[in-house]
Parts: sequence; structure tokens; C-alpha cells
Amino acid sequence: MTSPETSADTSSDTSSDGDPAGGLEGHSAAYDIDWDRLRERAIELMQRAYAPYSSFPVGVAGLVDDGRVVAGCNVENAAYGVALCAECGMVSDLHATGGGRLVAVSCVGSDGAPLMPCGRCRQLLWENGGPTCLLMTPEGILPMAQMLPQAFGRDDLDKLAGARTDEE
Ligand code: THU
Repeated sequence: MTSPETSADTSSDTSSDGDPAGGLEGHSAAYDIDWDRLRERAIELMQRAYAPYSSFPVGVAGLVDDGRVVAGCNVENAAYGVALCAECGMVSDLHATGGGRLVAVSCVGSDGAPLMPCGRCRQLLWENGGPTCLLMTPEGILPMAQMLPQAFGRDDLDKLAGARTDEE
């Protein structure tokens, strides 16, 4: 993929331990993923987080399959339970700016290091990126298939909906 939004720079893959593809051919091969740029954008968003209750700011940035970069930060609330995770904001940005599929995501905490999305947010990433979407983790770049094994998704709804139709 060529896009002004994603300068080709696989040399900046910080997690591949000498293997620029990170053993993930078939996942990232079609895209030039500038992981440094994604992380920098995530850090910018982390710095805009509204997290007065937890003092735990989070930022996230995602590369979309058309080259856009979408991003979000966490937004907390006096009613603690309704806090919005950074990934919620990013997914809203994704749809608000034209939709598409997430192909690579970088999520960071206040130290700028990779932060693992919570369970709910992995489900959001699954819905909007699927099994091949790549995530920068503390253990390197990994596909969502490994971050949410045997995930529940649209296929499951479709399967049972189909079965119900067959019975009728
Ligand atoms: N948080 C996120 O923004 N994303 C995650 O995946 C994990 C948690 C936020 C929610 C809350 O504002 C703060 O981090 C502490 O849990």
C-alpha cells in the first residue's frame, strides 16, 4: 500500500528481533506499516486523555486499510463505570472518518510503552480489524488471532441465524 499517511519504513519495526516481517507474512505484507509513526500518534493522544480519576492516560492509533491513521484517548467520568477506553474513541474515529478495516494498532500508557488493550477493547479491535490486524504488544507485533483466540464475532451470529432459517 502506498499512501502519504504511511511512509514505508519496515526498518523501524521495533519488535521483530531481526526479522523485519516479524514472522507475520500474510498479515502485514500488503502494507507498509510505520510503527514508530503509529506509536508517536498514540503518545500524542495519550497526552490528551481525560483521566482525572485513574490518572492512567491511554492513547491509541490505528492504521486503516486505505492509509488513514485514526486515534483515540480514554475519557473518564465521575460515574466511574462509564469511562470510555481509548480504543472506543479510535473506533469511533474510524467510522466517523469513512470506515474501513484496521490493519495495525499501537496502544500506549503514560510511559509511551505498548499497553495491552482490555478484553472489551480486544473485542472492538476484532470487530474492526479481524484476526489479521496487528497489535504492538510488550512481546512484539502480534496478530489479533493470538490476542483473542477463538473469538466471538459476526460469523457466530451468521451461523446460528443460518441454522434458524434452515429449520423454518
Ligand atoms: N483503558 C483504556 O483506555 N484502554 C484499555 O484497553 C485499558 C484501560 C483506560 C480506562 C481507564 O480510563 C483507565 O485506562 C484505567 O483503567
